Amino acid sequence: METVITLFSPEWMNAWQASINSSSEYKNHGRKWKEPLILKFSDGLPEIENCTGFWLDLSEGTCREIRYANQEDEKDTPTILSAEYEVWQNLIKTGKDPLFLLMKGTISLEKGSLLKLTSQRKAAKALLQAASSVIEFDSESESVPQASDKKEQAVKTNGSKGGRSEFKTTTQGLDFDSFPMQLFQKAKQLGIWNPSEIDFSKDKEQWGNFTDLEKTVLMHLTGMFVAGEEAVTLDLLPLIMTVAEEGRIEEEMFLTSFLWEEAKHTEFFARFLKEVTGQQINMEHFHGPAYKALFYQELHEALERLKRDRSPESQLKASITYNMIVEGTLAETGYEAYYRMLTENDMLPGLREGVGHLKRDESRHIAFGLYFIKRLVATNPELQDVLENEAGRLLDKAIDVVNEIFEPYPEMPFGLDKGWYIEYASNQFSKRIAKLLSE
Ligand SMILES: [Fe+2]
Ligand SMILES: [Fe+2]
Repeated sequence: METVITLFSPEWMNAWQASINSSSEYKNHGRKWKEPLILKFSDGLPEIENCTGFWLDLSEGTCREIRYANQEDEKDTPTILSAEYEVWQNLIKTGKDPLFLLMKGTISLEKGSLLKLTSQRKAAKALLQAASSVIEFDSESESVPQASDKKEQAVKTNGSKGGRSEFKTTTQGLDFDSFPMQLFQKAKQLGIWNPSEIDFSKDKEQWGNFTDLEKTVLMHLTGMFVAGEEAVTLDLLPLIMTVAEEGRIEEEMFLTSFLWEEAKHTEFFARFLKEVTGQQINMEHFHGPAYKALFYQELHEALERLKRDRSPESQLKASITYNMIVEGTLAETGYEAYYRMLTENDMLPGLREGVGHLKRDESRHIAFGLYFIKRLVATNPELQDVLENEAGRLLDKAIDVVNEIFEPYPEMPFGLDKGWYIEYASNQFSKRIAKLLSE
């Protein structure tokens, strides 16, 4: 279960340790490292008294402990890497290669052997990536970054009529620090999973033991998810075309991974249906009127409109429908509930593994959506009303979808609880709206 964790908090350290220990990259590349290490904040960690950084007890590809370091620890810890708070924060957020920053002098080696560290480059990277993956789900809970930086401006374009007047890479240069580029880096590191390699053998065994009601509910939920993933795969292109036409290359680059991921999500659930349930039946009866109104109509129309109207208002409505409602309210809540259900009932491990990956992919998509909406509203403040009205209108429809799921089942199996769904979806929604409207 993933929850929002504050960066550098004790919970975050625990999650980081767990993430290191489940990283096959670290297990593989870190097996030669057998001693503790300190990652030091040269300017301290303001909230924690006497804390100089993190003390990591690393041994042969595993991490035995992570805790706050103090000055005493420095005496008998053989390797100490030091950098400013912001450097570590940035490194963890972007998952960049720490050795490169060491070579540049942004990180300094206070104690230890540079040669040894250099030979452990891949281990160091895996360690930081494990940290980065912990905050993955948190990326959109932080303040949504501003898109007002000059470098992030799109290049001039003459549209289809007059050809292009310039390229960003050969005038201003790509903005590697922009939020979409950070998400793109994350997508390349964390979005690499292959739906066709998920092992469904245990799922197949377990499927035969479910009752008819349990099978129906699993088919019902999966039938909503798979069509939802197909819908977002089919409907994203007009948004990609829009940012491309505006010359927003960084956003388009991230959206290439976004679309690829939606395609993989579709493949994943389709494979589950085919190989685990063993039947490809017509599942349309699982799509009630509220589901159809959102997934067959609203989503399609909001994105399709961009083909003829690329005004900021039209873009805003498309992103609210796609990112805030379909992904940020329905998919996120649906997958969180599905993941919890699979974990708590210890069942369908292949499905659970895939849903785990999917949740992380979706968190990047939602983060992009919030960034995108914020950019539009910042440059067109008059759109704030549209944001409130449209999001509110669609939230009602999303809640109708949740109600519709539970309607046919007086007794829902696997501990699924409608109250939990509604509360989680509403909380996530209001948290984001508050963030978008307050800044
Ligand atoms: Fe998806
Ligand atoms: Fe998505």
